[in-house]
Amino acid sequence: MEKSKVLIVGGTGYLGKRLVKASLALGHETYLLHRKEIGVDIEKVQTLLSFKEQGGHLVHGSFNDHQSLVNAVKLVDVVICAISGVHIRSHQILLQLKLVDAIKEAGNVKRFLPSEFGTDPARMENAMEPGRVTFDDKMVVRRAIEEAGIPFTYVSANCFAGYFLGGLCQPGYIVPSWDHVTLLGDANAKAIYVDEDDIAMYTIKTIDDPRTLNKTLYLRPPKNILSQREVVQTWEKLIGKELKKSSISKEEFIGIIKEQAYEEQVGLTHYYHVCYEGCLVNFEIGVDGEEASKLYPEVKYTTVDDYLKRYL
Ligand SMILES: NC(=O)c1ccc[n+]([C@@H]2O[C@H](COP(=O)([O-])OP(=O)(O)OC[C@H]3O[C@@H](n4cnc5c(N)ncnc54)[C@H](OP(=O)(O)O)[C@@H]3O)[C@@H](O)[C@H]2O)c1
Repeated sequence: MEKSKVLIVGGTGYLGKRLVKASLALGHETYLLHRKEIGVDIEKVQTLLSFKEQGGHLVHGSFNDHQSLVNAVKLVDVVICAISGVHIRSHQILLQLKLVDAIKEAGNVKRFLPSEFGTDPARMENAMEPGRVTFDDKMVVRRAIEEAGIPFTYVSANCFAGYFLGGLCQPGYIVPSWDHVTLLGDANAKAIYVDEDDIAMYTIKTIDDPRTLNKTLYLRPPKNILSQREVVQTWEKLIGKELKKSSISKEEFIGIIKEQAYEEQVGLTHYYHVCYEGCLVNFEIGVDGEEASKLYPEVKYTTVDDYLKRYL
């Protein structure tokens, strides 16, 4: 089967870069949106040029120019969007509605993967304010996709390893501590951690796979389903010493959330749902979903143990 041509929107981003890398590695003709608004952002321009050197094609366009998006979309079979959605960095999820309009008008796209890559927003209807904005906005985009009749795959990637493992599940930390760790509650709720390069690889693997058409792809690499306590133990084994521990109760954590700035509150409520409520693992994947490590056993995913070794 001929491999789909892919357009990656947000290709200079934290996840976007990895999607481009995986798409090129798997032999897809890969297009990247070069937004005119990035102007003289030298880092982004150099990133785009380096992808061009590796065989990617740059397409000029802008979210403020509908026709440019239609033209870009017409070049490919599959569109993947990795636009920003982390409030402490930037949150532009609803801009994707413009992309949905362009895909609808172009009419040629066989599959669209919107910027999701986290907790399944369809399961977060009871999420806390203000963090629920992430899930609500992603659901607005889903509804627009489905109303437009655009074929889709939603990727529920669970926890980016860089944030969650890097900080031993402690909000505000992305490097593991060597002396002390704060446990969230009893620290026994399981979460799922996935190396961002693996997220990208599973995502590209799925774009031509009929089994995931109009479904959610959940990333649940079995060895990476661990509680915070187990993550800490893995780290302690690597460093050969036990960390001092304190813990924050659910009530204290909610109190702390309320004292923070809005952007911080959004992120903290996500930690709350993941680490206190176990929202990533408290459901079975139903008929509308598939699990990535089962579909693509050939992907040798990075285990928590291996991921943590990079901090030694
Ligand atoms: N599960 C998790 O733990 C987790 C963690 C982090 C992120 N995520 C999710 O992953 C997805 C990607 O997040 P990320 O952190 O990789 O994003 P990011 O690096 O913050 O941004 C990605 C890209 O979005 C584009 N962008 C930013 N502002 C824009 C604007 N005003 N107009 C148009 N494009 C704009 C830029 O791409 P260009 O300049 O190249 O166009 C940027 O490089 C989001 O859906 C996020 O919610 C999940």
